Amino acid sequence: MPNVSTHPASKIVSRDTLARVRDEFAARGQKLVFTNGCFDLLHVGHVRYLQEARALGDALAVAVNGDASVRALKGPSRPVNGQDDRAEVLAALECVDYVVVYPETSETRMTGLLRAVRPQVYAKGGDYTPETLDAEERGALVEAGSEIRILPLVPGRSTTRILESANAGLTGSAGSPAERAPLNIGVLGSGKGSNFAAIAAAIDAGTVPAEVRIVISDFEDAGILNLARARGIRAEYVAPGRFKTKLEPEAEARVVELLREAGVELVVLAGYMRMVKAPLLEAFPERIINIHPSLLPKYPGLMAWKQAVEDGAAVTGCTVHYVDTGMDTGPIIAQKEVPVLPGDTAETLHARIQEAEHALYPAVVAKLARER
Ligand code: GRF
Repeated sequence: MPNVSTHPASKIVSRDTLARVRDEFAARGQKLVFTNGCFDLLHVGHVRYLQEARALGDALAVAVNGDASVRALKGPSRPVNGQDDRAEVLAALECVDYVVVYPETSETRMTGLLRAVRPQVYAKGGDYTPETLDAEERGALVEAGSEIRILPLVPGRSTTRILESANAGLTGSAGSPAERAPLNIGVLGSGKGSNFAAIAAAIDAGTVPAEVRIVISDFEDAGILNLARARGIRAEYVAPGRFKTKLEPEAEARVVELLREAGVELVVLAGYMRMVKAPLLEAFPERIINIHPSLLPKYPGLMAWKQAVEDGAAVTGCTVHYVDTGMDTGPIIAQKEVPVLPGDTAETLHARIQEAEHALYPAVVAKLARER
């Protein structure tokens, strides 16, 4: 067995030391297990996961995301605990042998560290599969010959949940919705995913009592899938089939299956460019919402912002509505106005509408979560 001191501070090492440790392990025919995460408020889910990871080899090294990187991943109100405190708490766990704070910048990926350390075993918690790990990180692991092990999450345990309960306690509202389980949402998107990012950031900030359980896209390379992966959220591509404006029924049935598996209660369309058909509508009656970049019923369909400019409208905006069988026709939940300014082009107007969307959509999800 390696000679590991039990004094927590001595477990906190630099990237170079960790790389050396790995080589010493390899020379002895032993395995260094590596994992990484934010570990902002340590809870039983973390502890069980780290114990399981430790059991996969001869010692466990944990890379803890630096403060700037946690902010980039979880939103401006995080981390709650600074990187040095988080590292010390981890180092005090018996199952943790080494801790390294990484990255030092707001970079969110661990690629550099993985390349340097080349762990024999890489453990990751959650809904990942080896295929859905970040491509660059997976590349570094494959190059290093690391064995990739995905460990199950402990259901219902998360830092976000703890923060919500704490906030509910602070407001003193007995029976407040925030004390209940968060609303499980599933997001469907075809594009860059800025609305998803706004919702996820608001959840992390504790203003939306919800949890994004899964993100699904009809485009394999959609930005929304990468954003989800970067946040450790399950991200799935479902091949759409031969149609352009809707999913093949089998594909939509697969989407339903994934959403159900993930325990989704509310389906949130965020830049999802296909009509929703029976399999989804019947599986989630009145539980599918969409955001559209106009004040519906004005300018339904594609490029609503361009329609507004061409129409000479003085004001447009965005709408969140329930989804029905029509195109952008379902019952309206909320709207936010955006003035059309002199000199606005379709692009400048679209950018301002998106800003309004990023405020409206999280607010609507919060309202629906609270009104349950
Ligand atoms: C938004 O403008 C939304 O109104 C429309 O599609 C766009 C999605 O953008 N339905 P993003 O992928 O959320 O950035």
